[in-house]
Amino acid sequence: MSTKVEEVTSKAAVRTEPARILVADDQADVREALRLLLKAEGFALEIVSNPGAALEAVQTNEFDVVLMDLNYQRDTTSGREGMDLLSRIQAADSKLPIVVMTAWGSFELAVEAIRRGARDFIQKPWDNPRLLTIIRTQVDLYRAQRRAERLEAENSLLRAQNRPVFIAESKAMQPLLTLISRIGPSDANVLITGEHGTGKEVVAQTLHALSPRSGRPMVAVNTGGLAEGTFESELFGHVKGAFTDARADRVGRFELADRGTLFLDEIANVPIKQQAKLLRVLEMGEMERVGSSKTHKVDVRVISATNADLKVESAEGRFRPDLLFRLNTVELAIPPLRERREDIPLLAAHFLKEYAERYRKPVKGFEPSAMQKMLEHPWPGNVRELDHAIERSVLMSTAEQIHHSDLGLEIERASSAKIEEMSLEEVECLLIKKALTRHSGNISHAAEALGLSRSALYRRMQKYGL
Ligand SMILES: Nc1ncnc2c1ncn2[C@@H]1O[C@H](COP(=O)(O)OP(=O)(O)OP(=O)(O)O)[C@@H](O)[C@H]1O
Ligand SMILES: [Mg+2]
Repeated sequence: MSTKVEEVTSKAAVRTEPARILVADDQADVREALRLLLKAEGFALEIVSNPGAALEAVQTNEFDVVLMDLNYQRDTTSGREGMDLLSRIQAADSKLPIVVMTAWGSFELAVEAIRRGARDFIQKPWDNPRLLTIIRTQVDLYRAQRRAERLEAENSLLRAQNRPVFIAESKAMQPLLTLISRIGPSDANVLITGEHGTGKEVVAQTLHALSPRSGRPMVAVNTGGLAEGTFESELFGHVKGAFTDARADRVGRFELADRGTLFLDEIANVPIKQQAKLLRVLEMGEMERVGSSKTHKVDVRVISATNADLKVESAEGRFRPDLLFRLNTVELAIPPLRERREDIPLLAAHFLKEYAERYRKPVKGFEPSAMQKMLEHPWPGNVRELDHAIERSVLMSTAEQIHHSDLGLEIERASSAKIEEMSLEEVECLLIKKALTRHSGNISHAAEALGLSRSALYRRMQKYGL
């Protein structure tokens, strides 16, 4: 199967869309000549006859280059209408290359256009090979620039991403494994549910790795962690000047994930107002950057995750049912660790090896009493809690075998006796752990018991690494 996936990926990687050119000229014979010439060279064209239509075209569609006349009907020689159009196109999209056409002999007009930001000019009647060379050069430059912009944004997001290790040998995990292998390679939107720390992100990475999109990035967004005002700009990007702090164009996560996978984490925490915006993009497959009316088509597979029960959220009016319907084409529920205890020894061994290497400690295994402790512990924080317990034990250990006291699993009982000696933060952390244990890791219930909102509890859990 892996060869098949690779084949599809490499095809996707070499696929290049034909360059899109907007041609604007008021003379029918010029338009026709350009249409014949450029079509034959394999360009995709949109041809318009006046400045208004040209402007509308750049505002609604994407182009790689604009080829525009400077003289239009109302005023056929001064080039003022053309100059005005040039400025307006630049205002709409500052990076789009513009090549102007001028009448033979109006060299000064061409110079003026270049001074105002046109990338090149052609004098009419033009020389076909020269016109084609100019257009190809501009297309290449533009695409290279966009690629660089994208790569930079991608790199900063994905630097730390490795192929996931996904351990699941227990019986309780088998139906999930079957589903993952069946739907991984598809384009279906998947909603992953499960308690805190059960491995939702690992499952998302696994689905992406199994898909033909694996040659492209999986872009993760913690939708629950975005500040009120930044949601749209993070997801959809913005153009320079869209709001006070928008000093440069910014590529949003949706665009970054184009032809790849978008992972919307903590989806239940998206405020209802933003849910409408998300729904629109998922329904239309297209979006606009904040401050721009230009529509971008995006081809993304959406994987989302939550530890809330979205059906309850939806019944209680906090989550749009139509959005839920878009997201959960397939739903994967990950069982909590306490329902698959057979996986504990394998997971523990995996983490032990990792941390022993990282911290250069000669630890090789667990004493039977330590294993017993791990098998009995309720793990309200699931695999992440196990991961942290083992990291801690490797750091604490002074022998080849982890002793049960190294795991720190009794700390809660011991320390609650001397609450007077604890710092406020330690007490807070302890109470949160207790509430989570009492409510079997259900964040909504634990939050209610603690008198906190879901997101407030979530923030604290992140702070304490729970
Ligand atoms: N089946 C597994 N095999 C190996 N490692 C796992 C597995 N499940 C979880 N982990 C590890 O446990 C940690 C928590 O997993 P992950 O972040 O995917 O959980 P989550 O469900 O997304 O948690 P949260 O609800 O807090 O976002 C990670 O370090 C992950 O690598
Ligand atoms: Mg997660």
